[in-house]
Amino acid sequence: MYATAIKTASLSAADFRSDTVTRPDEGMMAAIQAAPVGDDVYGDDPTTSKLEAVAAEMLGKESGLFLTSGTQSNLAGVMAHCNRGDEYLIGKTYHIYAYEAGGTAVLGSIVPHPLPVDHRGALAAEDIVAAIKPNDSHVPITRLLCVENTVNGMAQSQSYMDEMANLAHDHGLKAHCDGARLMNASVALGVSAKELVKGYDTVSLCLSKGLGAPAGSVLVSDHETITRARRLRKMLGGGLRQSGILAAAGLYALEHNIEGLAEDHRRARHLVSKLDALDGITVNVEAVETNMIFIRFGDDRASIPDTALTELAPFMADHNITITPGRVMRCVVHRDINDADIDALVDALSAFIARYAD
Ligand SMILES: Cc1ncc(COP(=O)(O)O)c(C=O)c1O
Repeated sequence: MYATAIKTASLSAADFRSDTVTRPDEGMMAAIQAAPVGDDVYGDDPTTSKLEAVAAEMLGKESGLFLTSGTQSNLAGVMAHCNRGDEYLIGKTYHIYAYEAGGTAVLGSIVPHPLPVDHRGALAAEDIVAAIKPNDSHVPITRLLCVENTVNGMAQSQSYMDEMANLAHDHGLKAHCDGARLMNASVALGVSAKELVKGYDTVSLCLSKGLGAPAGSVLVSDHETITRARRLRKMLGGGLRQSGILAAAGLYALEHNIEGLAEDHRRARHLVSKLDALDGITVNVEAVETNMIFIRFGDDRASIPDTALTELAPFMADHNITITPGRVMRCVVHRDINDADIDALVDALSAFIARYAD
């Protein structure tokens, strides 16, 4: 009876909705099984402490903190920099502002100031400078600049990352990087993650996206900021006990799964080249730099009505493919997608479009 009420994707389907759908492989499960654990709220969990140290070292910072999710890691990061009534500047499409349930405002009483982003997901220096408030008791104190990398799969370059961090510091702001998929950016650009974020005061890295761990993110910064974030994590309900079970998966991901992101990127490019040959859809060909592809249904060549799009997900499910339907459909390639899955997606999309060709 409950089975009908619970919405689950078929576990055998090729799932293109997100890189969060990956499942731990055998090696990761073995690492989880073998992990020494203790109570991390007492600071006793050796595996969690090791993960925090490894992540901090990888990202060139003094200290790390394991948190339950990217959302919690970003929230603790923003709250570690800002007091109640302070303000942070951020791209209006960025995850912290748009998709984290307004947590910084609700739980931190911190005011977001959303800024435009360009076609590559980048902020403009002049918008940032114009948004920084003067020292005037009528307005909030601008405290922080939040940058994201990757943005919708687009890798933000070293020069852009440096420019943003320097701009923030020149104006007395701190700089936070939501690096949920920072390793994708690093692999795509051929630049170390440490170098990419060298100017940032805090960086949040997700372990449960393309890196393949079942849960968790790491926030890295200097000792003092991480001490504040650790207190905030407790307040936010994120103090875990034998967290080494999860941290072991994260450590395994950092040690074994970064290189494989290049393979995801190669598959994404291959998918784009195959899709580009189909009539009836357009693909963001130029902007596929890592593992995300955006497919738009209906263009000059053919028109697919809105009603048809409601049939897209069930049609794909019949082909053992899971997608998030929409006029613009995001497809994400990850370690649980293979070459045959790419071919199956192209064939199914081709069959779907053919229904509306005339
Ligand atoms: C760019 C970005 N930042 C942060 C997050 C939040 O991560 P989580 O889902 O682990 O809370 C996501 C999730 O998809 C994301 O895409």
